[in-house]
Amino acid sequence: MAYTSAISFVVLIFCLFSISRALRNLNLFNKQHDSVSEVGICSLLIETQGYTCEEHTVTTKDGYILSMQRIPAGRDGKKANKPPVLLQHGLLMDGGTWVLNSPNESLGFILADNGFDVWIANTRGTNYSRSHTSLSPSDPAYWEWSWDELVAFDLPASIQFVHNKTGQNLHYVGHSLGTLIAFSAFSKDQTLSLLRSAVLLSPIAYLGRMSSTLARAGADAFLGEDLYWLGLHEFAPRGKAVADLMSVICHMPDNDCSNLMTSFTGQNCCVNSSMTDKFLEHEPQSTSTKNMIHLAQMIRSGTITMYDYGNADDNQKHYGQSTPLIYDMGSIPRDFPMYLSYGGADELSDAADVKTLLDIFKHHDPNNLVVQFRKDYAHADFIFGVNAKDVVYDHVMAFFMLH
Ligand SMILES: *[C@@H]1O[C@H](CO)[C@@H](O)[C@H](O)[C@H]1NC(C)=O
Ligand SMILES: *[C@@H]1O[C@H](CO)[C@@H](O)[C@H](O)[C@H]1NC(C)=O
Ligand SMILES: *[C@@H]1O[C@H](CO)[C@@H](O)[C@H](O)[C@H]1NC(C)=O
Ligand SMILES: *[C@@H]1O[C@H](CO)[C@@H](O)[C@H](O)[C@H]1NC(C)=O
Repeated sequence: MAYTSAISFVVLIFCLFSISRALRNLNLFNKQHDSVSEVGICSLLIETQGYTCEEHTVTTKDGYILSMQRIPAGRDGKKANKPPVLLQHGLLMDGGTWVLNSPNESLGFILADNGFDVWIANTRGTNYSRSHTSLSPSDPAYWEWSWDELVAFDLPASIQFVHNKTGQNLHYVGHSLGTLIAFSAFSKDQTLSLLRSAVLLSPIAYLGRMSSTLARAGADAFLGEDLYWLGLHEFAPRGKAVADLMSVICHMPDNDCSNLMTSFTGQNCCVNSSMTDKFLEHEPQSTSTKNMIHLAQMIRSGTITMYDYGNADDNQKHYGQSTPLIYDMGSIPRDFPMYLSYGGADELSDAADVKTLLDIFKHHDPNNLVVQFRKDYAHADFIFGVNAKDVVYDHVMAFFMLH
């Protein structure tokens, strides 16, 4: 039996440690380019499909310079006449997520063709968001962040920027990690005043029930180790080191890597195999090792807290208490409009974990909480599925029209 879907991002970490000794003294990590250039998501993925596209940059309060793309009109050139929508990608991805499929299949294009003003965010550390006011990606300090900082800085900057540019409140769409940072921000009542609604695809919050046994083993091994001994501050999945690790993983019994995208995202029902090449041209993208550790902590603990520095003193220093601060999902306002869509085949956003979250939302106003379950969908089907327009996006747009 092939455990294809068990090879998740955490397995990469697991294997980092399994063969770490061999790599310790080798500097195998490829450097990606370190500044925003003329080439970008607009010219590579959006204009090539016949759409107008604007490149923007927004600087976070902690100095990261993020690129954003705007699709201000549909394919027919008709300017948007509906509210702005901000699209926030997930872990190890970038804004290309929303425009990699054909125009009739990609959420970014479908929204533009339906009159929405589309804005695409790109998290710090990804290929087109690597600039900083004072740091370079080759500085370890550049990578001193986990998703806590995406909640505190990247998300509010992106939302505020769109609000500033359009003068309107916006709809939000997050996938995977793009849902966790949103839930966490909402739980602290951040950014809500600028949002009309939020759509959470393949929602990630609690990770304690993640079904892959390999992922769990990876998280446990990861936490037991001193992480920085490898000097690995940037977790660069396109770097040679991780490619080598993938090759090791793929030779392990039970791991079938004949389809690399599947090995990253799980057993997706509906992703066209012709997507693989396009996917590998643009994804996966870097994140910080600290972010990966933070997620591994959540898999092990089953809780949603800030990054755990691992001892009472360091936590005290950062948080003023011996344990990391909790993001309380019960604090998300009950009347804030949310549309959650999750899949029965998704091993990263496990249905049991989603149910834990939904249980917390059970007192939410039923008019403002829509929950969709799709049995055959896994993690990537929500963004790349050939039928995602019919299954998810048409419902999402109908939801937007009500809020
Ligand atoms: C995309 O959708 C439009 C409008 O529904 C249709 O006219 C067109 O033929 C579709 N294109 C493809 C390649 O399927
Ligand atoms: C939004 O506009 C305010 C007021 O002009 C400005 O202070 C702030 O820096 C802007 N924020 C972003 C993210 O563009
Ligand atoms: C899959 O992609 C190929 C090549 O782009 C295309 O010809 C085919 O129609 C696609 N299949 C589906 C089900 O969309
Ligand atoms: C990163 O950007 C550079 C320069 O624009 C480009 O050549 C390269 O293909 C990009 N890599 C990825 C993974 O997007």
